[in-house]
Order: sequence, then C-alpha cells, then structure tokens
Amino acid sequence: MAMALWLLFSSFLFLSVSAANTQTKVTDNPADELVAVLNANRTAHKSSSLTDNPGLACIALQYIKAYGGDCKAVGGPDAKKPADSEFAETFAPNCGVDASTLSPITGRLLGCQSKYVQPPEAFSMLMKNERSLEILYSKNHTEVGAGVTGTDGGAPYFWCVLFSGGKHNSSFVVEGGVAKITRPGCFSGANDECSGADHSSRPSHMWMYAVTAFIAVGYAFGL
Ligand SMILES: *[C@@H]1O[C@H](CO)[C@@H](O)[C@H](O)[C@H]1NC(C)=O
Ligand SMILES: *[C@@H]1O[C@H](CO)[C@@H](O)[C@H](O)[C@H]1NC(C)=O
Ligand SMILES: *[C@@H]1O[C@H](CO)[C@@H](O)[C@H](O)[C@H]1NC(C)=O
Repeated sequence: MAMALWLLFSSFLFLSVSAANTQTKVTDNPADELVAVLNANRTAHKSSSLTDNPGLACIALQYIKAYGGDCKAVGGPDAKKPADSEFAETFAPNCGVDASTLSPITGRLLGCQSKYVQPPEAFSMLMKNERSLEILYSKNHTEVGAGVTGTDGGAPYFWCVLFSGGKHNSSFVVEGGVAKITRPGCFSGANDECSGADHSSRPSHMWMYAVTAFIAVGYAFGL
C-alpha cells in the first residue's frame, strides 16, 4: 500500500516537473496545468494565449459546486446549467470578486468523470465534440479560468473552464488583489499549490490521488 502510494506520488511529481518545464507560471495545481495545455493548444493553432484570471477561475470552481456532484446534470437529457444571475448573486461574492467587474462569459466547457485523470486527458475529454473546438479557438476570448474538484473527497470529478472577453486587470477583480482560496478543489491563476504534497495539513487534497476503475463519462457543452 505504502509502495503504491509512493509510486503514485512520484509519478505525480514527475508530471508536475514536466509541466513546469514547458510553462514557468504553472504550479503544482491541476487547474493551472489544464490552462497551460489549453493555451499551448491555442498557440499551436495560431490563436492568442489567454490570461489566466484567478477571479474567473475561482468562479469556475463555484460553477462546478452549483452542480452539487450531480454528473447527470452536466450533459445528456437531464442537462442543467446554473442561471446567469448566479454569477453576481452567488459565485462572485463567494470568491471575493467585485460584482461590478464581472465581464461577459464568452464560452464554457464542463466535464464530469467518474475517475480522476491527468490534466492533458481532461483537456481531451473536454474537447470531445465539434462545438468544444469552436469554443476553444474563438477569437472572442481574452481571459480564461479553470477549476477542478472531486465530490466529497472522491468521484465524480468535475472540470470547468470559463472564458471571458474582459479587459486584463479590470475584469473579475478580487478584493485586495488576492483570490479567496476555497477548498475542496483547485482553481487556476492564483499561484496556489494545490496538491497532496503536504498530506497532514491539507487532507482535502487527497482526492487528487484517488483512482477508480470506472469508465469515464465526459460531457462538454458550449454557451
Ligand atoms: C489541440 O486539441 C485538439 C483537441 O483535443 C487536438 O485534436 C489537436 O491535435 C490539438 N493540437 C495540438 C497542436 O496539440
Ligand atoms: C463571438 O462573438 C460574436 C458576437 O457576440 C458571436 O456572434 C460569435 O458567435 C462569437 N463566436 C464564437 C466562436 O462563439
Ligand atoms: C496589470 O497589472 C499588473 C500588476 O499590477 C501590471 O504589471 C500590468 O502591466 C497590468 N496590465 C495591464 C494590461 O494593465
């Protein structure tokens, strides 16, 4: 058991190191890594690299939480999405984002899976339909924010990417300039180490290492 955990841990370290080599601002955080993969894909496609906005990313994590762990509400016949009014009424206040700086969302990608996958695989999962590619390469975006979390410390795992056309430094502005770190879950852009490196003080991060044998169910949708 200890050996297996060690192997998982070392492979995670290895992956983080490889990610850090390609993009300097990426921390040990799966949401940061997802944004790095996404921006690398956009630039390879001659689209601009998007600014990772921590206020927007915190909202992406709140957006996931609005699903209450219900994967079926993400896609398929029972699909639902939070009302747009939730952004100003719930998500922004929970993140310490000044509601007057909320900018239009120009795209969203949401996926839910019964097992935890690494960020590059999560990216492919989110890109499963034609509409996703259209959203990914849209010229309307200037900023991006990603969130990822498990439910009650385990499966299912939700990944959410929100895009916005807001102006840098004046959209999704967080009080005091520092995004409110909320747990459980990780979001991008906040220079927040969100990993299991310190198990004793941050047990809620253990979900990152959880691996189950279920087949993945992934969904992604546009606006
Ligand atoms: C970008 O992502 C799409 C969707 O996953 C993939 O088909 C394409 O090969 C990727 N492009 C690059 C340059 O990695
Ligand atoms: C970009 O914005 C324009 C104007 O709001 C809209 O008509 C268009 O569909 C958007 N493009 C994409 C790819 O979402
Ligand atoms: C945004 O703010 C940072 C730090 O305050 C500053 O370095 C940067 O030039 C600003 N960018 C724009 C586009 O105003």
